[in-house]
Amino acid sequence: MEKYVITGGNKLNGSVEISGAKNAAVAIIPAAILSQGVCRIENVPNISDVTLILRILKEMGANIRFINKSTLEIDSFNIASPVASYELVRKMRASYYLLGSLLGKFSNAVVSLPGGCDFGVRPIDQHLKGFMALGADYKVEGGMVNVNAEKLCGSNIYLDVVSVGATINIMLAAVVSDGVTTIENVAKEPHIVDLANFLNSMGADIMGAGTDVIKIKGVKKLNGTTYSIIPDQIEAGTYMVAAAATKGDLLVKNVIPKHLESITAKLQEMGVHVDEYDDAVRVYANERPNKCNVKTMPHPGFPTDMQPQITALLSLAEGTSIVNESVWDSRFRYVEELRRMGAEISVDGKIAVVEGKEKLYGAPVKATDLRAGAAMVIAGLAAEGVTTVEDVVHIERGYEDIIDKLSTLGADIRKVSESEVSITKALLG
Ligand code: EPU
Repeated sequence: MEKYVITGGNKLNGSVEISGAKNAAVAIIPAAILSQGVCRIENVPNISDVTLILRILKEMGANIRFINKSTLEIDSFNIASPVASYELVRKMRASYYLLGSLLGKFSNAVVSLPGGCDFGVRPIDQHLKGFMALGADYKVEGGMVNVNAEKLCGSNIYLDVVSVGATINIMLAAVVSDGVTTIENVAKEPHIVDLANFLNSMGADIMGAGTDVIKIKGVKKLNGTTYSIIPDQIEAGTYMVAAAATKGDLLVKNVIPKHLESITAKLQEMGVHVDEYDDAVRVYANERPNKCNVKTMPHPGFPTDMQPQITALLSLAEGTSIVNESVWDSRFRYVEELRRMGAEISVDGKIAVVEGKEKLYGAPVKATDLRAGAAMVIAGLAAEGVTTVEDVVHIERGYEDIIDKLSTLGADIRKVSESEVSITKALLG
């Protein structure tokens, strides 16, 4: 087991380059299964969720070739079976995108029920409803979902909840179906648009991605393509919040500022300075942030995947803030960890009341999930004293080179193995 050891108090200064978007990459890579040619994908983030989805594709027979650290080629010609192995698939939520892409390719998909971050119940009823509307049937056997269709036919689908996963999965299956599919009340996240652009670059006919209604004219086949993944909105937002929490001055580069608007707006409301450039934002702060209320919403609202990070910042704000989590039923497990650092936060269901404190204090804490882990890192960077963050595997699912990137900005952060921690403790008596 590895941990991060952070000695807080250093301001983050300098510039940081944002990697490709995790949640776009984990959709685009399985989408390559639908192609009859080779897909060259650029700006692929080097994170463990991507490594895992690539391993799954490889195990299924895909030929994957790295051109450099962030560019790879996928040739799915040799994928001959619609079954994705349980062992790897169960480790990762986004592996459910194999359902849509295998269904599109074979009219059949057999995939294990997904794992991923634990925010309580994470149903896939809307994904299945979409597949059924396209003419498929499904059964769940031995922990695997088996979706089968004689033929996929275009249809009208209305999503009962705005779901990123369902929107993507239905797009993947519908893109090669017969006829026209209209999906209403869809998610509008930047990675939805990125996936649609990727599929269109392969010859798909998808319109409306980024609005409430997506219209897909099914095509007979998809070709190979070269495509570059968008920058990661949440990685960028995490560094923006870290700059504010440490009262630093940071240029966050390789971003699409439009994707960051909801985060920028909240930071500005808190008195943090944010300057926008074409493909960068500068974030700087000299004072404690002001209190501010935050409600998470599907895009273009404030992203739930930034909720733990902004709560860490609000725990250092002047005054009392209310954080309302409206996307997930249960995404405040990390609050107990922040309390160990001196934060004063009470949670009632989907609402957290954050009484801002002048200081947080270093403590041993856990990364209870990916974004919770990012919040612990932010709190540790801003706190007085030493913070150790356990279970960093969660963090490395979604943040490329976080130690190197933060160290370059002046943070005192190291990754140590469990044994090193015990030796240090013994030496310190
Ligand atoms: N929902 C249903 N039925 C469904 C699907 C979803 O009721 O069939 C509900 C969920 O329970 C939740 C809401 O709809 O309350 C939204 O879920 P959504 O399907 O949008 O989430 P997801 O696709 O499973 C993706 C991201 C998450 C991010 C959410 C919301 C990926 C791989 N994951 O999950 O990202 O929190 O959208 O924006 O894209 C992360 O990156 O840390 C992460 C967890």
